Amino acid sequence: MKIDRFADLEAVSRAGAEDFVQLARASQGTFNVALSGGSTPKRMHELLAAMGRDALPWDRVVLWWGDERTVPPDHPDSNFGMAKRTLMDPLGLTRFHRMEGERDPAAAASDYEAQLVAACGAPPVLDLVFLGMGPDGHTASLFPGSPAVGEKQRFVVANPVDSPVAKGKTTRLTMTAPVLCAARHVRFLVAGADKAKVLKAVLEGPRGRYLSQLVDGPDVRWYVDAAAAKELS
Ligand code: 6PG
Repeated sequence: MKIDRFADLEAVSRAGAEDFVQLARASQGTFNVALSGGSTPKRMHELLAAMGRDALPWDRVVLWWGDERTVPPDHPDSNFGMAKRTLMDPLGLTRFHRMEGERDPAAAASDYEAQLVAACGAPPVLDLVFLGMGPDGHTASLFPGSPAVGEKQRFVVANPVDSPVAKGKTTRLTMTAPVLCAARHVRFLVAGADKAKVLKAVLEGPRGRYLSQLVDGPDVRWYVDAAAAKELS
């Protein structure tokens, strides 16, 4: 696991965007990327969109999502909706697999899992996965105490969660640890002072306490800003 510190969200976002460009250019064939939800990735999306369609081989890129809220794609809380506004529409991207948050969660999760296995094998091997981290140390929609945390067989599940970070009791669609750990490259983008305490616990504390610690693999990097890193030794 590698930790890189940057001055601010802008610099973290630029590092994430540049990695996307470099890794996609260096790849052969289809380049499967899972985008993160939440607010942190927005700026990276905007920077990628500003780079224009020729910055990387977008025709070979297929977009996936690590997780989704159980809302329609035009809902303000939709992770797909955020990516559509900030990245896909500006670049006219059409190759993607959307988690259908408006459908029955269990059925939507099974369908998405089938698509993922058909495209990336079992366990599915994604080329690049972007993840965020919540102030409770969760990543994707693997929330503390939720059933999907211990999932070892399934790759995408409907996960009932009850957390103030998720705005109370709800169900999320989420990729599971077996998929996140099988990815060729993982980039955590973490910014903001509200993440400082948990980031220290996740990166420097005992293993196995926080969901973000579950994610290991051949190339896991944490891009953190100064505010989030302020308690790191
Ligand atoms: C989601 C995310 C979630 C997110 C963290 C951080 O759908 O909420 O995938 O895991 O990455 O909650 O969210 P922020 O970037 O908004 O702080």
